[in-house]
Amino acid sequence: MTIKAVTNAVIEEAATLLKGGDCVAIPTETVYGLAANALDDVAVSKIFDIKNRPNFNPLIVHFNVLDQLRDYVDLPKIGDDLAQIFWPGPMTLIVKRRKNCVFANRVTAGLDTVAVRIPSHKTAQKIIAAAGVPLAAPSANASGEVSPTSATHVFDSLGNRVKLIVADGGAKVGLESTVIDVTGDRAVILRAGGVTIDQVSDVLGYDVAYDDGHNNNNPKSPGQLLKHYAPSLPVRLRAYDVKEGEALLAFGSTKFMPITDVPDHRFLNLSETGDLDEAASNLFAYLRKLDKTDASSIAVMDIPNIGVGVAINDRLRRAAEK
Ligand code: TXA
Ligand code: MG
Repeated sequence: MTIKAVTNAVIEEAATLLKGGDCVAIPTETVYGLAANALDDVAVSKIFDIKNRPNFNPLIVHFNVLDQLRDYVDLPKIGDDLAQIFWPGPMTLIVKRRKNCVFANRVTAGLDTVAVRIPSHKTAQKIIAAAGVPLAAPSANASGEVSPTSATHVFDSLGNRVKLIVADGGAKVGLESTVIDVTGDRAVILRAGGVTIDQVSDVLGYDVAYDDGHNNNNPKSPGQLLKHYAPSLPVRLRAYDVKEGEALLAFGSTKFMPITDVPDHRFLNLSETGDLDEAASNLFAYLRKLDKTDASSIAVMDIPNIGVGVAINDRLRRAAEK
C-alpha cells in the first residue's frame, strides 16, 4: 500500500524519495499535493506524467519558511505585505522569475513568472524542511478531476502511480489556495481560495481586482482555462427543488426544500448551520461521495457569494461546466 500515516520515519522516507527525484503525495491545509524537487527537471516531469497534466500549466513552488523563499525569489512590496499576514497559509503569489532562475523549466511552463507558496500544514513544512529543497506541487489528482482532500482521494485518483502518499487527515481549508498576481502595481486575484478577496483588499487598502479568466479566453493563470474540479455526474446549480433521480448537495436549512423523496445515500449537507468555512472543507469530499451514487445528476443548493463562498461558487461553476 502506498498510503502511510505520518510519523517521523515516514517524513524521512518522503524526504529520501524526494531527494532521489521521486514524487510524493503530501498533505497541505488546502488540498493534498503531488510534490517533487522543484530544482530537478526529471522529477518535475514525473508530476506531469503521473497527473497527465498539460505542459502549458505551470506549478506552484512550496517553501518551508520565508527565509528559504527569499533565497529563490524576490517579493515586491505588495507581496511582502500579503506574506506577512497570510503566510504560512492558503495563498499563492505570482512573482517575476529571476534571470538566473534555478527552478526546473517545466515548473514555470515558459512564463517569466513563478507561483510560490508557504503552506501552514505542519507535516508539509516538515517534509519540505527534511527534503531541503523547494517542492513543486500541484493538487494530487489526475488533471481535470476534483482535488483531493484526503489520502484516500489521492489513491482513488492516482493509485500506485505514486510511490508514497503521506496521510495526515482531511485538508482543513478544503479548497486550493488563493492565487494572487503581485507582478504589477496592483495585486490581481487569479483564483479565489481560502484567503478571501475582502481579506486581501483589507490588507492592501484598496478593492483588489478578481480576474479568473472566466470572461475571456486569455486568462493570466493558464490552469484556469482547463475544465476543472469535475465530477463525472452532471451538476445542477442553484437548485430549489430535487428532480427524480437526482442527488442533493444541500447548504444550510433544507426546511423549504422538497427532499422527502431523496434517499439518504443521495443526500449530503455541506453545512447544516450555513457555515461557509465548513462547507468549503466538505465540498470536494461530498462531490466525490455523491458522484459514486446511483444518482442521475447532482443538484446543489444556492451558496451565498460572500467570503469563501466566492471560491466555493467558482469550483461549483467549473464542476457544472459541460
Ligand atoms: O492549494 C494549492 O494551491 C494546491 C496545494 C497543493 O498547494 N496546489 C494547487 O496546484 O492547487 P495546481 O497546480 O492544481 O494549481 C496551480 C494554479 C494553476 O491554475 C496554475 O495555472 C496557476 O496556479 N499558476 C501556476 N504558476 C503560474 C504563473 N506563473 N502565473 C499564473 N498562474 C500560475
Ligand atoms: Mg489542480
